[in-house]
Amino acid sequence: MARILLTSRLPDDALGPIVGHELVMPSSGVPLTTDEVADLARDVDAIVCQLTDRITEAVLACASRLAVIATVSVGYDNLDVGAATRAGVAVCNTPGVLDDTTADLAFALILAASRLLSDSERDLRNGGWTDWRFDGYLGQDVHGATLGLVGYGRIGRAVARRAEGFSMRVLHHARRPTGLQGYVIELDDLLRQADVVSLHVPLTPETRHLIDARRLALMKPTAVLVNTARGPVVDEEALGAALESGRLFAAGLDVYEHEPTIHPRLVAAPRTVLLPHIGSASFATRTAMARLATSAVAEVLAGGRPPNTVNPEVFGN
Ligand code: DGY
Repeated sequence: MARILLTSRLPDDALGPIVGHELVMPSSGVPLTTDEVADLARDVDAIVCQLTDRITEAVLACASRLAVIATVSVGYDNLDVGAATRAGVAVCNTPGVLDDTTADLAFALILAASRLLSDSERDLRNGGWTDWRFDGYLGQDVHGATLGLVGYGRIGRAVARRAEGFSMRVLHHARRPTGLQGYVIELDDLLRQADVVSLHVPLTPETRHLIDARRLALMKPTAVLVNTARGPVVDEEALGAALESGRLFAAGLDVYEHEPTIHPRLVAAPRTVLLPHIGSASFATRTAMARLATSAVAEVLAGGRPPNTVNPEVFGN
């Protein structure tokens, strides 16, 4: 029997794979601090964590018997994978089970930002809708528009499938040529052409502030930017300025540079839809993600090599 730290409560349906092991869980629903995780990690064989848990080199240094960490997210920028690999700890994530749910939300943001749903609903709720106006709340059409996908992994492609139903022209940019129709070699070219830009890249040193002031200035003034990937991919200060000045038409955001703190310029920005990082938040998908994470932990503890290991080199040959 191994000891497994669950940094937050998981749905009962996700616990099947780790039944029989000793589970260590926080007693309250309050997220653990990094120090608390480090303290609990001293004495466990596995950790199932969330994207808000920072598993740093210092945490790993405390965890002498740790064999595996599974983050209940597809993104794993919360973990120091290099340090884990050096310590011989397998790192697993949850790819594949959240693509459609996240793509649904990206498309919801495309529609909501293009058609000014937040501004118009806010006015209505505040009593600001006093008369119907022919020129009130004019947005941008989504049908027939050009969608530029930055990153063309599973989620980007799921967004492309939805865009087909709206008769959109779909372009995509990825670091490596995809060989697929719609591939644009230069990100700057895609930004110049797109009416809607939707971001689907992981956060890495190369993608931090990928969308900065210079690139925002390349976009059409009628364009809409949607981010369901990771907040730091966008320079929020520059985005706030572009929205305030009307250099960019609208933005739909689910992720932020310093979650859960939101840049005040974005909170105040016009034509902006802001959601609290709910891309994968459906009952079915969160359960599937948690179960994929617990399955990976069980497999590593049983001597296996789960396919969703991001550092498979820890298993050797
Ligand atoms: C992920 O899995 O990385 C998402 O951001 C969580 O919804």
